[in-house]
Parts: sequence; structure tokens; C-alpha cells
Amino acid sequence: MAVWAVLVAAGRGERLGSNRPKAFAKLRDRPLLAESLERLEASDWIDSIVIVAPPGWEEPSILLAEELACTKVVACATGGETRAESVRAGVAEVGDDAAVIVVHDAARPVLPDEVLERVLTALNEGWDGAVPVLPLADTVKRVRDGRIVETLPREELAAAQTPQAFLASALREALGGDLAGATDCASLVETRGRVATVPGDRTLLKVTDLSDLELVASFL
Ligand code: CTP
Ligand code: MG
Repeated sequence: MAVWAVLVAAGRGERLGSNRPKAFAKLRDRPLLAESLERLEASDWIDSIVIVAPPGWEEPSILLAEELACTKVVACATGGETRAESVRAGVAEVGDDAAVIVVHDAARPVLPDEVLERVLTALNEGWDGAVPVLPLADTVKRVRDGRIVETLPREELAAAQTPQAFLASALREALGGDLAGATDCASLVETRGRVATVPGDRTLLKVTDLSDLELVASFL
């Protein structure tokens, strides 16, 4: 049974402040999207890839995939207003042969193959989904109007990364429901099914602002 990857790249990248979407901002001398796309293409864990492009950037995305000789790319979907809507658009292009869908942020270009192995191994062990996480270094507070109202138990908290892997049936079902407030896919699946955590990786840092671009470039 096939493993499909949905690579979400449709965000505007407002915090990066570039004149183009974040996926096409330059990481060294290439569009940011190139790095994660190439790594998914090269991974033996992945059979097929769907790119989710910013509206109007479908053609440059397909051209990039062609330039990189990414033969696993079978579709390019147009993204939505929110990340969850973009995931929904990408999953709509995933074939019926998919047993597992891996959702990955193009904003996390440095994707180690070991993390794909970890999330997919968890699914083989019977989980409905698996998410790479990192422990939090800082103490986390709940803050309202500038005032601390609660200190959260750090040992129970983790920072979620991508790639997140799900049984295709579980993800499709979750995406059929209300997407409001969902900042990642696991939050949609975890309320219905069993989602495991696996160790994440520091190199999977999400590029948010300009300083992150430089940091991520140093990981290459
Ligand atoms: N994403 C998407 N569609 C959206 C919003 C986000 O496909 N409507 C993708 C982004 O392209 C990125 C990932 O989801 O790969 C994580 O989003 P984020 O880091 O917030 O990226 P942007 O939304 O582009 O950045 P910003 O919030 O600064 O505008
Ligand atoms: Mg965003």
C-alpha cells in the first residue's frame, strides 16, 4: 500500500516579509520549496507527492518539480486561506491507493529521512497518526491581558513539528469535519483517533522570519 506526501507550501509568508510567498523565498540560491521537495523525492519511504501551491504559483511549482526531476509529484493543488484548508485541498488529490498520508510543511526545508522512518514505523505499530515532537526548554505560561494566569506542567507539553503521518482513512475523515482553529493535522485526528509522538529533530525548524532562513541555511 502506498505512502503519499502532501507538501503544504501555500502560505503567504507574511512574517518573512518577502515580495513572494515563503515557499519561493531564497534558501541559499534556490526556492525554499526545493529543499523539502527534493528530500521527499529522494526518500524510499515516499511513493507519491502532492504539492499545495499558493494561488497563482501552481505553474512555478510544477516547473520546479520538473527541474528537480521529481517523478513522484503527481499533482499540484491550489492552497486555501488557512493551512488546514490547504491540507484538505492537497488530500483531495491523493489517490485511492494511499494507505498512509504524510503531511509536511514546506516551511521546514531540512527534513531528515530518519524522521519519516520514525513516524511511519509508529503507524506500522498500530497508531492512527504519528507526530514528531521536541520537549520545551522554557517554562510555559497561560497569559491573559498581560497577566500570568497559570503555569503549565512542562513535562506534559511538547512542540509539534512535521512530517505528520496518518492512516489515509483517519486523515480524510478528520478533514471532513470542522477545520476552524486547527493549526496542525494532528489536532484534527487526535480527538477521534490515537496519535503517537516520536522524537522530532532540531533541523526541522520552521522558517518564520528572516533570521530562521539564515539558521536553516546553516543546517544544509
Ligand atoms: N500553509 C499553507 N496554506 C496556508 C497557510 C499556510 O499551505 N493558507 C503552509 C505554509 O506554506 C507552510 C506551513 O503551512 O509551509 C506552515 O505555515 P506558516 O509557517 O504559518 O507559513 P505562512 O502562513 O506562509 O507564514 P505567515 O503565517 O508568516 O504568513
Ligand atoms: Mg501562517
